[in-house]
Amino acid sequence: MHGGTRIRVIEPTDAAPIAAHRARDIEAFRRWEPARPTEFFTPEGQAERIDSLLAGYRTGTVWPGVVLADDQVIGEVTIGGILPQAHLRRGSVGYWIGSVAQNQGHAGRAVELALRVMTDELGLHRAEASTNLENLPSQRVLRRNGFSPYGVAHSSILLDGSWRDGLLWERILGD
Ligand SMILES: CC(C)(COP(=O)(O)OP(=O)(O)OC[C@H]1O[C@@H](n2cnc3c(N)ncnc32)[C@H](O)[C@@H]1OP(=O)(O)O)[C@@H](O)C(=O)NCCC(=O)NCCS
Repeated sequence: MHGGTRIRVIEPTDAAPIAAHRARDIEAFRRWEPARPTEFFTPEGQAERIDSLLAGYRTGTVWPGVVLADDQVIGEVTIGGILPQAHLRRGSVGYWIGSVAQNQGHAGRAVELALRVMTDELGLHRAEASTNLENLPSQRVLRRNGFSPYGVAHSSILLDGSWRDGLLWERILGD
């Protein structure tokens, strides 16, 4: 427990609460999250997605986490693109929090906990992230966790029908 926020590796039983959050938040997330196929918003579609995330977890390319408050799933925090090679040792952090649980510090604490996983469990040296230029809440989450912006990836993600620039973030974790 950390300020009322926990993270753990995703489990098959998380499919239903994740689908419920994402179905309810389709409109709220439209600006920030890529369009998804219909099955993404169903427990069955999420169960398939979780299977594939756990396959990546077993091979070490992804650490797929859920965010919990009062033992309820309220969002996800994912360490993706893990490059464990000794000369790279980096990964990229992504996250969302359901609209019903936003603005209570959960994403900030979840990223802090994910950074601990990156150092203590995965032995990584560098954390990266990407946000929309207008996504100020997400940028606050990263700044609060010691990330700095280092560049702009032009026309890098299709969001709500138009190609958007991505602001690139980095944080050096340690040796
Ligand atoms: C971005 C997101 C994960 C933040 O989750 P959260 O749990 O609400 O985040 P926190 O409460 O930890 O922090 C939010 C911060 O944004 C600030 N904020 C909220 N609304 C804001 C706004 N309109 N403008 C500027 N800052 C704002 C809050 O004050 C807080 O900053 P602080 O730490 O300085 O007080 C959540 O809004 C979300 O899931 N959004 C939709 C999907 C998304 O954007 N994912 C990230 C893609 S990069």
